[in-house]
Amino acid sequence: MRPLTAQWVANAVGGALAADVDALVTNVVKDSREAGPGSLYVAFVGERVDGHDFVETAIAAGASLCLVSQPVAAPHVLVDDVEAALGSLACAYLALLRTEGEITVIGITGSNGKTTTKDVLAQTLPAVVAPVGSYNNEIGMPLTVLAANSDTRHLVLEMGASGPGHIAYLTSIAPPDIAVVLMVGTAHAGGYDSADGIAKAKAEIVRGLVPGGVAILNADDAAVAAMAPLAERVVTFGLGDSAHIRAAELSLDAGRPRFVPVVRGAWGKRITLTLVGEHHVSNALAALAVAIECGIDADEAAARIAAAGPVSEHRMALTERADGVTVIDDSYNASPESMRAAFRALVDVAQGGRSFAVIGEMLEMGDASRDAHWELGHHAVRLGIDYLLVVGEGAKPAFDAAVREGSWGDEAAFVATIGEAREYLADRLTPGDTVLVKASHGTGLYELADELVREGA
Ligand SMILES: Nc1ncnc2c1ncn2[C@@H]1O[C@H](COP(=O)(O)OP(=O)(O)OP(=O)(O)O)[C@@H](O)[C@H]1O
Ligand SMILES: [Mg+2]
Repeated sequence: MRPLTAQWVANAVGGALAADVDALVTNVVKDSREAGPGSLYVAFVGERVDGHDFVETAIAAGASLCLVSQPVAAPHVLVDDVEAALGSLACAYLALLRTEGEITVIGITGSNGKTTTKDVLAQTLPAVVAPVGSYNNEIGMPLTVLAANSDTRHLVLEMGASGPGHIAYLTSIAPPDIAVVLMVGTAHAGGYDSADGIAKAKAEIVRGLVPGGVAILNADDAAVAAMAPLAERVVTFGLGDSAHIRAAELSLDAGRPRFVPVVRGAWGKRITLTLVGEHHVSNALAALAVAIECGIDADEAAARIAAAGPVSEHRMALTERADGVTVIDDSYNASPESMRAAFRALVDVAQGGRSFAVIGEMLEMGDASRDAHWELGHHAVRLGIDYLLVVGEGAKPAFDAAVREGSWGDEAAFVATIGEAREYLADRLTPGDTVLVKASHGTGLYELADELVREGA
């Protein structure tokens, strides 16, 4: 981060300064354990923990300033609302960086694929800030902005929404030069009235563009393509012929998509993605569109995108164990679209061997939850998945549907706990099998994925 004085911070957030005006801030943290020399420690009051209790720890670690909503016995800036102040600080900071250099802000939204696309761009764009993980909310995104510095040329921001107005808030802090909408889908459906509501919320990123900014839209998703009139400039990507940036001659090579990128009619060199799963074609095309907008040669960009591997954990991470079992760990999160995509990838990777889908609940589905899980069970049958292990009560409709439709023996099973799932697999996995583990993060099923990966190490 570019160093800021305490006075500058106080002015940016409209807070009262109780510190040496010249004290320097060189990084921003919200966890006192991450504080070090020059940190601005942001004290949030959470449900269980009051960040003000850790001011002393942060100062002892070297923090030079704290952002607080209650006076503390340490150098601080006092505000009414720490979260809003963090947003104001990020907003002012970005404006400062824009006056000092060329920085392109790329905002990415969509119900699936934000982190993956961000991680691909982190491996494609020069002088880029795009931190590992999924910092897509009203706290994580401003912190990402504050991680940029005077040398940053590309700032890639994940913008998530679990309700109307969320993305508008994020773009008010960091209006993007390039706004990417990956898909509308049904993730986090619990926070919305309708599918139309989800589309409207995602469209906020396009409305939030800087004047003259470009929207990069998925032409294969009608609800995304419909956002085009909201932008001055639009670049589309997709598999259909009409997209500006598309994939031709798509095939799969043991789960890895292989295709020819076609940019406004010009055919490039054929590439094979490092990422596993056909659904990543769309993310790769979005990344290609961004890279070209950023002035990178199309062939060069495509080659970097093809080489880009998974960075953030538990996302389609493929491990071939020494004992001949292949584990696909996609346990970071789950929505109906990403479940279907992962099932397709499982079937493709497993070619010739047995496929095991180990699935847990898709959380935050609201009223749609039962039907969505039921549909998943059908899908497993349709795709011919060999073993379906459903873990946890919330996901049980998937098992019920599969049993009703398919002809399974103990190849379909429902278990209540991860422990039972572990036993089920231990009794059955043999060399040549491929096992997919997928659920929402909150189910904890990623622990099973970690174990499965470790076991064969
Ligand atoms: N285009 C896509 N279609 C369907 N599934 C996808 C797509 N892109 C990624 N996924 C899957 O969605 C899941 C989440 O991916 P990722 O973490 O990139 O998404 P995200 O949008 O950042 O999610 P979150 O809202 O949790 O931050 C993974 O299982 C991934 O394989
Ligand atoms: Mg994410």
